[in-house]
Amino acid sequence: MKHFLLIANWKSNPQSLENACMLARALEREVKKIRGVEIVIAPPYPFLVPVRRELKKAKLGAQDSFWTGGPYTGDISPEQLATLGVKYVIIGHSERRIYHGETDSLINKKMKAVLEAGMSSILCVGERERIGRDIPAIVGEQIRGALREIPPRLYRNICIAYEPVWAISTTPGAVPDTPENSFRASMYIRRVLADMAGKKNSGSVRILYGGSVSQMNIGSFVRDGGVGGALVGSASLNRKTFGEIIRIASRAR
Ligand code: 13P
Repeated sequence: MKHFLLIANWKSNPQSLENACMLARALEREVKKIRGVEIVIAPPYPFLVPVRRELKKAKLGAQDSFWTGGPYTGDISPEQLATLGVKYVIIGHSERRIYHGETDSLINKKMKAVLEAGMSSILCVGERERIGRDIPAIVGEQIRGALREIPPRLYRNICIAYEPVWAISTTPGAVPDTPENSFRASMYIRRVLADMAGKKNSGSVRILYGGSVSQMNIGSFVRDGGVGGALVGSASLNRKTFGEIIRIASRAR
């Protein structure tokens, strides 16, 4: 059985290098004590190298990547990230879709480039508003768009995070999803993947949940959420809270 995967998405936090290194050091101390959970820390780009120096057991993640290098002012290529020791790259986060207008076709290019550079990619999908009980078709469309023409042999390096926007802690009125619903979402995602690439390939994709994950709900997501990991935002910025999340996840396995 694969380890439960916990990804700390720091987003554009903290604001100083000193605080980023302090947080990384503190989280690494928590990570060192625990077994059976794989931890990835995804700091902002400028802090990747200094944070990497603080990590031994935790792996390094990036929050995005462009699809190529060259004459693209301000962009960062997958090869550049790989050479810094980045192992996982988050692609298609809702904040990038919303604030930067990222489309499924751009996300598809980024997915291909990250996988070809030998890193794992964490594709984020999810609807903006909660509509009834069924997982909305937009989730399937986002997956089909993002994985278009990606060879199934690369599926084992793909994680898909079901991260509905209404559940993200910074969305006004946010509520965490229930483990029952994340279970339904994970079944739905498996069906979409199986339709695209067959059951075997679909089974090699790791499915994660994200949205207001905390020390209060992580245990139930591990046990009943049907997911192999979680993407954690705000709660990953606090050493004690994240430490507790890791401990609970490792015990709940
Ligand atoms: P929160 O855990 O703060 O809800 O953020 C979720 C998220 O967007 C992680 O990618």
